[in-house]
Amino acid sequence: MCGIVGYLGNRDGLDVVLSGLRRLEYRGYDSAGIAMPVDGSIEWRKKAGKIANLAAAIEQDPLPGSGVAIGHTRWATHGAPTDANSHPHVAGRVAIVHNGIIENHDALRAELDGAEFSSETDSEVAAHLLGRELDGGAGLVDAMRAVSTKLEGAFTLVAIDAQDPQRIVAARRNSPLVVGKGDGEYFVASDVAAFIEYTRDAVELGQDQIVEITPDGVSVTSFDGGPAQTKDFHVDWDLEAAQKQGFDWYMRKEIFEQPKAVADTLLGRLNERGELVLDELRISPETLRRINKIVIVAAGTSFYAGLVAKYAIEHWTRIPCEVELASEFRYRDPIVDPMTLVVTISQSGETADTLMAIRHAREQHAKVVAICNTNGATIPRESDAVIYTHAGPEIGVASTKGFTTQLIACYLLGLYLAQVRGMKYGDEVAGLLRELERMPEAMQGVLDNQQPILDLAAELVDETSVLFLGRHVGYPVALEGALKLKELAYIHAEGFAAGELKHGPIALVSQDLPMFIVVPPRGRDQLRDKVISNIAEVRARGARTIVLAEAGDDDARAQASTFIELPRVSTLLQPLLAIVPLQLFACELATVKGHDVDQPRNLAKSVTVE
Ligand code: M6R
Repeated sequence: MCGIVGYLGNRDGLDVVLSGLRRLEYRGYDSAGIAMPVDGSIEWRKKAGKIANLAAAIEQDPLPGSGVAIGHTRWATHGAPTDANSHPHVAGRVAIVHNGIIENHDALRAELDGAEFSSETDSEVAAHLLGRELDGGAGLVDAMRAVSTKLEGAFTLVAIDAQDPQRIVAARRNSPLVVGKGDGEYFVASDVAAFIEYTRDAVELGQDQIVEITPDGVSVTSFDGGPAQTKDFHVDWDLEAAQKQGFDWYMRKEIFEQPKAVADTLLGRLNERGELVLDELRISPETLRRINKIVIVAAGTSFYAGLVAKYAIEHWTRIPCEVELASEFRYRDPIVDPMTLVVTISQSGETADTLMAIRHAREQHAKVVAICNTNGATIPRESDAVIYTHAGPEIGVASTKGFTTQLIACYLLGLYLAQVRGMKYGDEVAGLLRELERMPEAMQGVLDNQQPILDLAAELVDETSVLFLGRHVGYPVALEGALKLKELAYIHAEGFAAGELKHGPIALVSQDLPMFIVVPPRGRDQLRDKVISNIAEVRARGARTIVLAEAGDDDARAQASTFIELPRVSTLLQPLLAIVPLQLFACELATVKGHDVDQPRNLAKSVTVE
């Protein structure tokens, strides 16, 4: 939520920061702005709307050249998305950009008598507080330290001082910030995408730290002035991965990247003895053998990946597994203790709800494993162990390859637990892994057959409501299919457990209502037959049935207004395939409707406020 970039070096700061903001625009696109120190004062431009509006404003009213600049792209929390509420906020000689929420901003505002506020944001108090510290004689680092300790809530703050133009100072608490180190040039940003064009060498920061950047380098200290622990890392993807590569949308590109993302996530998981190894899982087998409960905690699409995982993990390990929305977890006083394994799932690694859940779980002495796609993010850093998905950067706000690679990581974790706890023989684990290894090819088969789903999207462009049904692991797929459609097409879309239909939702069924139904493979006949009966029930009431079932399932085909064929796989792995047509459908319907698929209204990629 909100993207921040700062640059110090020999390039044109305006160019670097604008291109960084464009790469971070997925984090928020309500407004954007940029500031730089020029000849003893701050020069800035800011504009409501997307970065294109800011770029146009700068073209009309150019900024002078500077090798130091900071910029911001906003997802509004306090104050409407107007020019005035856009960042940077300037107070005399200082300019700041902020990501997060300053919870005590009202109290701080009241203390700042005499200060002239020009916005309704919580952020502007930080600019005035810093300004006062500087006017009182403090340097920018000490000023930032003093202000940071006054702020409550979550914040990344980046500041420049017009009277000290070769310095950028940033502070972070509960909000993302990474440092990029180039050759004689330095970057601070909400994520590495902002500077990947210039360097892949980055520094992961800890909590409550202050970063100072000057032409001499980067120095990091803690809020109390003491030494700070940081970790250098190398970003394992490049600029090309963060570009559209000929696709109309990042989302469509990311849907098509899934076979590779899944293959990459599976890579190197078997040792020479054919055993499953999870190198990053820094929890000993002894500890994992003692676990008596698993709680999966996540939000949005990642939560739906967790719902699928429950079926696989319980089946393979016989360990009871609960799945909980991160935003609800700590508020219901969950029963979590040192024998509980908490598994958090987060593509971005920065979701505030999930992070708070982790902290709560660790306070109860539970072990926490994070499944995450983002190196250097807060969630893996604050967890006991991590399983990285190797999906590469996911830039479309609607998660796609994030979801399918999370499923892979969950399957791997389930199989690993089954292995260390002796619930599965080695050959059984190896057999399931071999089946997982065939999934990229099966997914490619689904992608190669995309035309019927694209045609369907064009046909259904004027629909105002679409329902999704599934049973067993097909149920979370239905929920995820509905979420994709809500996010992108802005229409009523709901997912139901097929068996629940008769308990109420069937009243929604009307003539020609489009209903997607995920049919389990024939390996689980009892399950599949029930779903086929559910389709017959809605068909009898006039629904238009779009049936996703395995090739050769003629009973399912007979109930279908439109039949979407899936390759034959075992039931537990079917979500990897069944979700793909639903992603394509949502992407295409939104495209036909003329919506911005990558940046749907009101959303942001990384939700860093609770
Ligand atoms: O980065 P995370 O996986 O923690 O994000 C969780 C949700 O915010 C995210 O999945 C959201 O629901 C997506 N926009 C769904 O497409």
